[in-house]
Amino acid sequence: MKVSGRSYRTIWLNADGWGVDVIDQRWLPHEFRIETLRSVAEAATAIRDMWVRGAPLIGVTAAYGVALAMSEDPSDAALDAAWERLHETRPTAVNLRWALDAARDRLRPLDPAKRAKAAYAQAAEIADEDVAINRALGRNGLAIIRSLAAGKRPGEPVNILTHCNAGWLATVDYGTATAPIYCAMEEGLSVHVYVDETRPRNQGASLTAWEFANHGAAHTLVVDNAGGHLMQRGLVDMVIVGSDRTTANGDVCNKIGTYLKALAAHDNGAPFYVALPSPTIDWTIRDGKDIPIEERSADEVDFVQGLDADGKVTRVRISPKGSPAANPAFDVTPARLVTGLITERGVAKASPEGLKALFPERA
Ligand code: MRU
Repeated sequence: MKVSGRSYRTIWLNADGWGVDVIDQRWLPHEFRIETLRSVAEAATAIRDMWVRGAPLIGVTAAYGVALAMSEDPSDAALDAAWERLHETRPTAVNLRWALDAARDRLRPLDPAKRAKAAYAQAAEIADEDVAINRALGRNGLAIIRSLAAGKRPGEPVNILTHCNAGWLATVDYGTATAPIYCAMEEGLSVHVYVDETRPRNQGASLTAWEFANHGAAHTLVVDNAGGHLMQRGLVDMVIVGSDRTTANGDVCNKIGTYLKALAAHDNGAPFYVALPSPTIDWTIRDGKDIPIEERSADEVDFVQGLDADGKVTRVRISPKGSPAANPAFDVTPARLVTGLITERGVAKASPEGLKALFPERA
């Protein structure tokens, strides 16, 4: 995707050949900052403190984190320690474990002297694969948008609602929920996106809206509570969200508030789609209740970040000191509320049979 006319991915190898550059998303949309990660400790911090976030990008950063660890110390003990250190950063997005397992499986049989080079190559492969997957799932989601567009009057847009940021910033490029939207734009279809602000960290307001503004996508930012009202008024043709972990039976874990959107969509007959790459499917879990839900700091609820009158990024408290706050970061939308799972292999029914039909090797 382009930022001020220049193409970027969200993560890439530094010109020095071993540091890892990332867009530090904590400062968007106000400041575009790039940071270089130079150790496994820095990679773990970048994931935990959400310099990088979004399930696929967390996985790719972890893969590069292992590469950084191997260039410091390629021993078995360091490999296991890197796995543990990176794995404990964020518990919900299963792409993290997927990438770490893939790295350990590939590196363990190798001579330690060859591990660092192999780890960098694998991280680059996972990054490229993420881009290819997102392009493929974008084309599969495009077919759905195309059929909705066919029922519109000339020039009338297909209205899509999205939650959080499942855009290119959450992946290496293109995004998941946004990929069908970008494909529709490439095809010249008229689309308009309602962007949920997504409290408490406001990934919709700060990241998705910024992405769309940069890309020239028609969008309107709304508060999280507006979705039900918009759907009642017939202003939403479809919902597309991403996922941090989807179970083998099609239950979808995603950013807190997604479940409420699914309930409102169900009540109003709006199709509710989830766009996800296959590394987001956790084949070991059959019930969404078994997904670990990250509990983040109450500070994210008590404070909001924005620009002050002098143009400086600042934080302000919005709650009384002393009021306890809870901050569950994700929720689970049961499969029965999901119209379809848009994957790189096609659109699956959110059911064990639907997923197995697309991924028979997992059956
Ligand atoms: O806490 P975050 O910002 O990492 O949460 C991100 C989401 O919930 C996304 O919707 C999800 O990771 C899918 S990203 C393609």
